Amino acid sequence: MNTDTNGWRDRVAVLAETISNRLSQLVHDRRPAALYEPVQYVLSKGGKRFRPVLVLLAADAFGIDSEEAMPLALAVELVHEFSLVHDDIMDHADSRRGRPTVHVKYDVDTAILCGDTLLNLATSMIADVTAGSVKDHVKCLSHAVESLCEGQALDKQYETASGLQTADYLRMVDLKTGALTAACLELAGIAGGVNTLVRSRLRSSGLAMGRAFQIQDDLLDLVADDARWGKVIGSDLMEGKKTFLLLEAQARSTESDGDFFGKIHQGAGLDASQIVEARRRMDSLGVLEASRDAIAKHTDQAIVLLGLASGHTSDVQLLVRSMAERVW
Ligand code: IPE
Ligand code: IPE
Ligand code: MG
Ligand code: MG
Ligand code: MG
Repeated sequence: MNTDTNGWRDRVAVLAETISNRLSQLVHDRRPAALYEPVQYVLSKGGKRFRPVLVLLAADAFGIDSEEAMPLALAVELVHEFSLVHDDIMDHADSRRGRPTVHVKYDVDTAILCGDTLLNLATSMIADVTAGSVKDHVKCLSHAVESLCEGQALDKQYETASGLQTADYLRMVDLKTGALTAACLELAGIAGGVNTLVRSRLRSSGLAMGRAFQIQDDLLDLVADDARWGKVIGSDLMEGKKTFLLLEAQARSTESDGDFFGKIHQGAGLDASQIVEARRRMDSLGVLEASRDAIAKHTDQAIVLLGLASGHTSDVQLLVRSMAERVW
């Protein structure tokens, strides 16, 4: 595969900026302010825009230009934004993208409605799609939202569960994260009129991408540099989340470790003062390395499946590779 020297990163940056501009225009003069000001707060400071850029690059690989694919790209980013606002309530998260979360800046009631509005904006975007069947796009996106909610339910349930295995974790991740990355590729495929075999390869690639992405998110939750990360470091361990890292640590722990990771089974998270120690222990158990290996494995799989689906090396593959490099 080509490594980047050919301006594909510039192309990604331009697409991400176009998406951000479009999102910031969606509700900017709408009233009541009690509803739309928090929605604007979410839409006016961007994340990486990985999912919508993925839609645009994949659509391009199937002959659909970025203007035509834009409603699909905006729709998936709006679903993502909705999920983050509600996720932050569920995860008791105080900061995101370096700013207070919506329920902290405003309140929980406002954040619930803000999320509802973002989800509805996503749905309304689909009506504007001109490439591919609107019915197929609606079914695809609605399936992704359904799966995302199922995955989030498992994520909460797992906080107090014991005896979970990596397979349980992957089932949860395929739902909460993979379903939306799979939809990014599938929506692009539907727009481009691909056949069912290609569509199923796109779906599998998106699921592998979701696994790589979530394991990376779990890893960075512990090892990231605070300022770049924009979320609270160690929050998963404090919340008792059954992340890839925690399940690996529990599987690798021995009697001599005491019950340091084992006690998180009961749903009681670690105290903030224990996070540095948890990281040290995970490092010496080989958990951080195992996480990096898993990210690389799922990324490679996603890239191979993308190649099978789109038939040639593409900017989409370069984008996926560049995401996986973000392991810090
Ligand atoms: C965070 O997603 C939520 C996960 C599914 C892991 P991103 O890391 O894409 O968040 P932003 O949009 O860039 O802030
Ligand atoms: C998020 O997982 C999955 C969603 C569907 C939102 P996380 O709870 O790990 O995401 P972050 O770390 O808060 O962004
Ligand atoms: Mg969560
Ligand atoms: Mg969270
Ligand atoms: Mg996380």
